[in-house]
Amino acid sequence: MSDIALDVHISPERLLEDLRADVRQGLTATPKWLSPKWFYDATGSALFENITELPEYYPTRTERALIEAHAFDIAEKTDAPILVELGSGSSDKTRLLLTAGLKHGSLERYVPQDVSPSALEGAIDQLSREFPSLGVRGIVSDFTDTLQNLPADGRRTIAFLGGTLGNLIPDERARFLADIARALVSGEFLLLGVGLVIEESVLVPAYDDAAGVTAQFNSNVLSVLNTRLGADFDPQQFEHVALWNAEEEWIEMRLRARTAQHVHIADLELDVSFDEGEELRTEISAKFRREGIDRELVDAGFRIDEFWTDPQERFALILACREK
Ligand code: SAH
Ligand code: AVI
Repeated sequence: MSDIALDVHISPERLLEDLRADVRQGLTATPKWLSPKWFYDATGSALFENITELPEYYPTRTERALIEAHAFDIAEKTDAPILVELGSGSSDKTRLLLTAGLKHGSLERYVPQDVSPSALEGAIDQLSREFPSLGVRGIVSDFTDTLQNLPADGRRTIAFLGGTLGNLIPDERARFLADIARALVSGEFLLLGVGLVIEESVLVPAYDDAAGVTAQFNSNVLSVLNTRLGADFDPQQFEHVALWNAEEEWIEMRLRARTAQHVHIADLELDVSFDEGEELRTEISAKFRREGIDRELVDAGFRIDEFWTDPQERFALILACREK
């Protein structure tokens, strides 16, 4: 993997500082929590890719089918030479957008952005070979703090796929959507993929699969803390929990201490105690209703041009235009 075109807008030192601050805040809070951003070291990114292939995890295949059905429409409507993708991961579904954009004749550049350098490097290496006429240059950064760094020398579409919007808490989400709107100029588009509110009997297994891959993904965050902050978590001592919070309309992933225990985080000189059964929240994954997400987008400064959904109405792909 030589010559990977990657701009690093968050230094490893800054990322470590952010991790330190987040962990100190989250693990000294009641109840304890961690940001899902820290799942994605190389192992976490690879585990997420495994999740996308699980029979229970419907979002990826449902969104892929929607992109496949509408990619040409999207290329025509957006007519953009630059496609930016936030939290791009493996960029796997994006291939469909790239193929359509190139066929349509508008697309010249693809700018994947992610906090995980390993995910970006793999994607860029592969895409550069697969689409030799396309300029591909990635950005390593935190998507909540990067919009000022996006290329602005041509008409852009920003894609934010996979339902990752739902991993932000509502305040962060509103700020983030407004920031995206502000970063775009009138007539540019946001292509947004979000999970919809559906039956709990389908939602919960998607986050608690029979093969235990999501459990591994969840507990990997403890290994990230061990490696990066010299913590001494024993991941075996924590049980994976996924539940549907019907009031908030989000899935919560948690890690539940199997026994009372103390953890030492050497880098922070911090001792953290867990009671038996105490839970650490590691992720929310909000699901949306059409009226709700439409309203959030309009409040942020968008007009909804398209709202595509699958026949079972499990996932939505939304094309929203930056209003004047
Ligand atoms: N968009 C892809 C990947 C979704 S997984 C898909 O639809 O399959 C979520 C991705 O967002 C991961 O690659 C993760 O590294 C990235 N991510 C999570 N939090 C982030 C943050 N705060 N800033 C940038 N990237 C982030
Ligand atoms: C990346 N994000 C949209 C995934 C989700 O569904 O919330 C992360 C994930 N967590 C557990 N499984 C997948």
